[in-house]
Amino acid sequence: MTVEAYKKAVQTLNRYAHYYYVLDDPITTDEVYDTLYHKVLAFEATHEEAILSNSPTQRVGGVPLDKFTKAAHPSRMWSLEDIFNAQELQKWLQKTGKLVDNISFYCEPKYDGASLNLIYEKGVLLQAITRGDGVVGEDVTQNAKTIQSIPLHIEYEEKIEIRGEVVIFKDEFEKINVTRSKAGESLFANPRNAAAGSLRQLDPQITAKRNLVFLPYGIGENTLEEPLLNRRMEMVYSWGFRAPPRRELAEGFEAIETIYEQMKSEREGYDMMLDGMVIKVNQIEAQLEMGYTVKVPRWAVAYKFPAVEKITTLKDIVLQVGRSGAVTPVAIVEPTQIEGVVVERASLHNFDEIDRKDIRIGDKVIILRSGDVIPKIVKVISQERDGSQQPYVRPTSCPVCESELLDEGALTKCQNLTCSARVVNAIIYFASKPCLNIDGLGDKIVETLYSEGLIKNVLDLFGLTLEQLLALEGFKERKSQKLIDAIHGAKGCECWRFINALGIEHIGEVASKSLCNAFGLDFMSADKEAIVAIDGIGEEMANSLLEFVRVNREVVLELQEILSPKAPAPKVEVAENPFKGKVVVLTGSMSVSRGVIKVMLEDLGAKVSGSVSKKTDYLVYGEDAGSKYDKAMDLGVTCITEEKMREMLV
Ligand code: IVH
Repeated sequence: MTVEAYKKAVQTLNRYAHYYYVLDDPITTDEVYDTLYHKVLAFEATHEEAILSNSPTQRVGGVPLDKFTKAAHPSRMWSLEDIFNAQELQKWLQKTGKLVDNISFYCEPKYDGASLNLIYEKGVLLQAITRGDGVVGEDVTQNAKTIQSIPLHIEYEEKIEIRGEVVIFKDEFEKINVTRSKAGESLFANPRNAAAGSLRQLDPQITAKRNLVFLPYGIGENTLEEPLLNRRMEMVYSWGFRAPPRRELAEGFEAIETIYEQMKSEREGYDMMLDGMVIKVNQIEAQLEMGYTVKVPRWAVAYKFPAVEKITTLKDIVLQVGRSGAVTPVAIVEPTQIEGVVVERASLHNFDEIDRKDIRIGDKVIILRSGDVIPKIVKVISQERDGSQQPYVRPTSCPVCESELLDEGALTKCQNLTCSARVVNAIIYFASKPCLNIDGLGDKIVETLYSEGLIKNVLDLFGLTLEQLLALEGFKERKSQKLIDAIHGAKGCECWRFINALGIEHIGEVASKSLCNAFGLDFMSADKEAIVAIDGIGEEMANSLLEFVRVNREVVLELQEILSPKAPAPKVEVAENPFKGKVVVLTGSMSVSRGVIKVMLEDLGAKVSGSVSKKTDYLVYGEDAGSKYDKAMDLGVTCITEEKMREMLV
C-alpha cells in the first residue's frame, strides 16, 4: 500500500463509520470494513511515522490508567432547572417573556446518560472531560476516543467545546447485563449507570467494548458568529456528530406542549433513554441577556417526563434475607418492558406495606419505574380480581434456615447468626465496592464458594488456594489466579474500608470514615463518650459499634492482622488563613455544591456547622439564602458572599 492509498483507505473507513455510527445507515458490510481496516493496520505497523491521528486504529491504543487526572472546563458546564407540568411551563415562559421579547424555543430530547465536554482545537479532539462539579471534571480523553460517534477530527479550526451526553442504547444495555449475569458480575441498574460506569473505566479497552454513543446538546467556549442556536447545532451535526432523533423550533406555549406530548408518547420507540424534553431560547443574543442563576441558565429548562407506569400481574412474592437478618418481600411480576428495561421484580419494602395495600398473589398491579430506582408496586387493581387471589400470609420461619422469625412490624428478622443467607450476604458485602472492593468476587462466585464448602466466613477467603478454585466448574487458571490476587490485593486497604466491610449495623461508609478519622485503627478501644462526640454519630450508632466490638473482637483482630489496613495520614498543620479555627455556616445555592465548599473550608481548618448560633463566626451565603441568613443578621454574625469568601483566600 502506498502512503496515498493509505490516506484514502483511512478516509473511506471514516466514511463507512460515519454512515454506520452517526447516520444509522450502513453503506457497506462488516466484512468489507474489516478487510480494509486490517490493511490499514498492516500498513501502520511498518510506517509508524505516517500514521494519521484520525485513523480508526487510533481509537483504541491507550494503556490502562492508575487513576484519572482532574481537568478544568474552559467554560463552566451548567445544570438545568426541572419543570414537571403545563402550569410550570406557563410560569417559565412568562418569566422568560419578561426578560426578552420575540423569542423562539429550540426543543430537543433530554437524554439520560453522563455528560461529557469535548475540546477541539485546530480541528483535532484534544481533550474529553466529564462534568464533575461543572468547573472541574476528570480527563477521560482515551475513553472518549473509543466512542465511534465522537469525531477525532472536525472541519472547524477554531477552539470549540462540544457538550453532549454519553448514553448506552437500550438494546445494548440489555446485552451487557446478560453478559454480566453469565459472568457472575453485578448488573447495572439502568442504562445511565451503565453509560457513566463505562465512561469512567481506567482501561479504555473496556470502554471500547461497551458501544457508547455521544449525543451533542450544546456548545461551550466558541467564536461562532451564527446568531441562532438551531443553526449552530446543525453546524455541529454537519461536522460528524449525531443529530437528535427529534428537534424542533416552537414559538409559544401551545406549540411547545404539542411537541412535548408527542415526544413523551414516542419515547419508548427511541433507541436511547429520555427523561424529558429540553427547551432552550433559540436566539444567542437573548440567551446572553438572560444569563444564569448560580446553578442554571435562565434561558433553558428541562420539562421532565413522568415516571413510567405499567400494568402487569403479580406472580409470586419471594423472600430475601439480608446480611443483618432482615427478611424482605420481593414481588415477582409477569415480565414487562419499561423504557427498554425488562422488569421482572419489584420492591415491596416490608410486610406492613403488603397489608396496607392489600397486595395478593395473582393480582393485576401497577408498577412504576422512575430513573434509577428499583421498580415498585404502586397500586393493586382490585376490581380485576376473580376470587382466586388470597390475602398474603406473613412468614413465621426463615425461608433459608427455617429458624423462627422475629416480627417487629415493619421489620422482620431471622435471628440465626449462622443462617447461610446472612453469612453469604455478609461476605458479598465485605467484598463490595464501598468496602474492600475485591474485583471479581461478586454474588454468584461467593454463593458458589459457600455452597461448595470452601468458605464459611470472611476469614476463609484469605485461605483459598489455586487448587481449590481450579476444582470448581468454570474456573480456569487465569480467572482463578486473578481472583486470588484480587483477594490478597485488599491487604493494606484504607482503614475506613476495613471498618465499613465489617457490616456493623447503622455504620455505613460516612460513619466509617468519621470513625477512622477520629480513632484510626484504635476504633475498638474508643468509649461511648468519645464515639458520640463525633459529628454525625449518635447514640444508636455508638451502641451498635460497641455491641459489635464486644461480640466480635477476636474475629476483627484476626482480620486486622491479615489485612493490615492503613491508618489515615496524620493531619498536617494547616497554614494560617482567615477561616482556620472558625465556625462557619453555609446557606443558599453556590457556584458549586455546598458539600464541595464544606470540604474546602474543613481543609482550611474551619468547623462547618449546620445551624447558626452565637458561636458562628461567619455565614457564607449564596443565592436564595433564607432563614439562616436572617438569623445570622439578628445575631450580628458576619455574613459574606461566596465571592467574598474566595477573595479572602487569595
Ligand atoms: S443543556 C446550559 N440539553 O442534563 C445548558 N442538557 O439536568 C446545560 N442533558 O448536565 C445543559 N440532555 O448532562 C442539555 N438536550 C440536553 C440534554 C442535557 C441531557 C443533561 C446534561 C445536563 C443535565 C442537566
